[in-house]
Amino acid sequence: MNHRQTPHSMLPDVDHDENARQDFVMNFRQHLAHNVNPGTTLAYEQRVEPAFEKEHGRKPEGHDEVRKVMTKDPYYQIWSAMQRNSQMMMWDSVIDSVERTLPDMIDQARGLNGPSSARLADESFEVPRYHTSYDIHLQPGGYHTDSATEDIAAGMIYDTAVPIYALGMMGQENDATGETIVNFYKTNYAHHTPKRVLDLGCAIGNSTVPWAKAYPDAEVYGIDVGAPCLRYGAARANAIGHTLHLSQQNAEQTDFPDNHFDVIGSALLFHETSRSAVTNIMTEAYRILKPGGVMVHMDAFGHVETTTPIQEFLSTWEVFNNNEYFLKQLRCINIIDEVESCGFDRDKIAFKQTPYMTGTRATNEGVAGYMMGFWDVNVLVAEK
Ligand SMILES: C[S@@+](CC[C@H](N)C(=O)[O-])C[C@H]1O[C@@H](n2cnc3c(N)ncnc32)[C@H](O)[C@@H]1O
Repeated sequence: MNHRQTPHSMLPDVDHDENARQDFVMNFRQHLAHNVNPGTTLAYEQRVEPAFEKEHGRKPEGHDEVRKVMTKDPYYQIWSAMQRNSQMMMWDSVIDSVERTLPDMIDQARGLNGPSSARLADESFEVPRYHTSYDIHLQPGGYHTDSATEDIAAGMIYDTAVPIYALGMMGQENDATGETIVNFYKTNYAHHTPKRVLDLGCAIGNSTVPWAKAYPDAEVYGIDVGAPCLRYGAARANAIGHTLHLSQQNAEQTDFPDNHFDVIGSALLFHETSRSAVTNIMTEAYRILKPGGVMVHMDAFGHVETTTPIQEFLSTWEVFNNNEYFLKQLRCINIIDEVESCGFDRDKIAFKQTPYMTGTRATNEGVAGYMMGFWDVNVLVAEK
């Protein structure tokens, strides 16, 4: 049984050996994050930077210059190889459970006739190239690949892997990102009672369910490009008793009418898109948001300040080693200018700090050394 999250009937059964492997990967990743990764900075400060300075009479400037020397350092190479391998091991360990249970779980999803639904696009729908060209964060087949009739595998994989990926900091129901955004909205817009809410890039509805929990009288919508995630997301919402209206749509151009939503949110969407997609999604959000409505996005926007070349270099690891190609470019966009250019008034756009909502509900049952987080994140907010 999978003890890393609250069980529900759409989670694949995890047998003893699979569970042991998944625990191992999680503990391995924990060990890498807390015990091995800090040594990369030490290696830089104590060995790589002094050697560079001796040769050039100055310190390395910028992350590209640091890259040239650090990627030759054996300590960095070992950490980096182990980190990448832990990512591949994570998918492998989870996919074992998914492949073994998939036919039964597809039947089960079909049999769950709750109020939640996934409206899928017809065959003319094109999954954007920024998903089909490579497997984002090395997830085999990404969010969108269908390998069986009424496939839900990508959704099962995402739901099972996320607690391991996030080292237990995604909340008991993989909903920490959604809970964070909803908590921000509820706290700052306590006088609003949204009737219609949209979550962009909803995947399996894990960031969408918190809206349905917080506003049970609202119509709650989620869109994503990945059909197997959406099928799974509707079944998952039915399994845990929430009503979501999911549909397969590209957030760059949706079929929703103008001025339709009171709130539009997204969690971890933009860093998995492209430069032109950011403009298109913000423009589309402006079109479908009601006047007076609020949009709240949580992602790695350009407010993130990395102070030193080594920190900046390490922050690009995901870009070069984990197929998160757009992450770095997203950080470089002046997102306030960008949102303004998509229609919003500049004085109604801001970054706001808000608590990340996981520590209260993360669990370390059976897994040693979880890091329990209480910290703030920034959200990008704009009012129309
Ligand atoms: C990292 S996942 C985040 C899922 C969820 N919001 C969460 O917080 O865990 C990003 C999601 O955005 C979706 N996505 C990426 N580009 C999209 C687009 N142009 N339109 C709709 N969804 C998109 C992906 O398919 C993926 O499911």
